Amino acid sequence: MSKAKHDVVWHQGKVSQREREELLCQNASTLWLTGLSAAGKSTLAFALEKALIDLGKACFVLDGDNIRHGLNKDLNFSVQARTENIRRVAEVAKLMNEAGLIVITAFISPFIADRESARLIIGKDCFREVYISTPLRVCEARDPKGLYAKARKGNLQEFTGLSSPYEPPTRPDLTLDTSKIAFETSIAQLVELALGSPVKRLQATTL
Ligand code: ADX
Repeated sequence: MSKAKHDVVWHQGKVSQREREELLCQNASTLWLTGLSAAGKSTLAFALEKALIDLGKACFVLDGDNIRHGLNKDLNFSVQARTENIRRVAEVAKLMNEAGLIVITAFISPFIADRESARLIIGKDCFREVYISTPLRVCEARDPKGLYAKARKGNLQEFTGLSSPYEPPTRPDLTLDTSKIAFETSIAQLVELALGSPVKRLQATTL
């Protein structure tokens, strides 16, 4: 039992993550998709979610744009606000993993330090880093929301890839360049990452 600041005391529940995972016949994990705006993170995340649901797996997408409509609507795109964005999302992902769910996050999450913090919060056994490595020139050519054009004109500050940096992962669990790999292949690899080693973990504990 840990005692936090301000005399707040931890209440230990009676149901473990393992019991919840066994109830759902799956192992919880968080697939953390990182990459530039328009790299394909959200499209892949929602397609993966559908594929996993079709396989009978309980999962949920935490999407950058969507979360910024609610939980994180008070945050802008400063370095500090992005750090807080990722911290909150990592805490939510951790709770969802504790509930037994497979979580897919789709955030630019441009800074290595913030993604390492997310790994620490979520735990290295559950955290899988997926680098959506679609190059800047492809993302800019796609520009589905017109944000690259806006940023080039100087009408959008601190835009990732142009006026704010993106630090690529150094050792991601999976790298997908959506300008090179067929969409179905990407989804198959993501499904394998979501179900692959965790399935072995479940077998190991139930044999
Ligand atoms: S993060 O950097 O803090 O991880 P997040 O994934 O939540 O970013 O949000 C990114 C989305 O916000 C982009 O897909 C884009 O639509 C929008 N956006 C608006 N302004 C910016 C900006 N300055 N930099 C990057 N994305 C922006």
